[in-house]
Amino acid sequence: MIINLRDICAVAEQNNMAIASFNVPSFEALRAAIDVAEETDHPVILSHAEGHEPLAPLDSIGPVMVALAERSSAMLCVHLDHCEHLSYMRRALEIGFTGAMYDGSFEPYEVNLENSQRAAEMCSGFDCGIECELGSMGSREAGQRDEGGTAEESGAVYTDPDQAADFIASTGTDILACSFGTVHGIYKGEPHLNFKVLTDIRDRVKIPLVMHGGSGVSDEDYKKAIDSGIRKINYYTYGVKYAGEAACAEMEAKRSKSADAIVYWHDLTSAAYSRLVEDFDHVVKVFANGAKQLA
Ligand code: 13P
Repeated sequence: MIINLRDICAVAEQNNMAIASFNVPSFEALRAAIDVAEETDHPVILSHAEGHEPLAPLDSIGPVMVALAERSSAMLCVHLDHCEHLSYMRRALEIGFTGAMYDGSFEPYEVNLENSQRAAEMCSGFDCGIECELGSMGSREAGQRDEGGTAEESGAVYTDPDQAADFIASTGTDILACSFGTVHGIYKGEPHLNFKVLTDIRDRVKIPLVMHGGSGVSDEDYKKAIDSGIRKINYYTYGVKYAGEAACAEMEAKRSKSADAIVYWHDLTSAAYSRLVEDFDHVVKVFANGAKQLA
């Protein structure tokens, strides 16, 4: 069943948990995310980032995401991630997306505010919740996955709690992506999350908060972030890293038996799919934060 971003985050709020938002720019990832949602009976967000257009064009994968979500027994939201162009957002809304993020974090505050207002207005004409971002993660979702590093290295600017309160009042965004130490891509060393920034934001604003750069964080930090108001966790890089490693291991296993062994494409995609299922299953259970009754 397909539900909108506001409603899926309300489920998270009621249960003091976070919803996994998986970027799914391949059939294996899309199938793994839906299968895990159905098997665990946990709500999941299926995300398509504008920056993933070269991997999976919106016009091709978008209708498939919506059709599979509609016929699934699991509670699923089909969401546009890191959208920088309102014309692209309109296309996703017309396809039937039920969540959309406008990312103006790279713009000066006034421009971000104005474009976020326009995005929220556009979504209000559809059954679609809106996410906006304040502060900056530094490294961009569309960038190379090994650009990540640390928050300082990637030029992150933490979200200002007072500005967040004004921003939410002016834009009417349903949920807010905040910067408090996570980065997109691979972490160099341990991630250092600033929970004081997060709790200060939560004290000022009452809407669900979003963690971007959510893969590669320890289970303990996920739990602390959820207990501090994080309701949606965006997850991509480490899942596809593990899937890539599984595909390589499969190839090596075949080649170790015979140097000229044929390795079929489906051998690699099957290994990647299985590894994604294993990883997604682990994270949705951690993000559930002990919640039993999920609706
Ligand atoms: P990761 O790069 O940490 O997986 O973050 C993904 C993300 O935030 C997508 O919006």
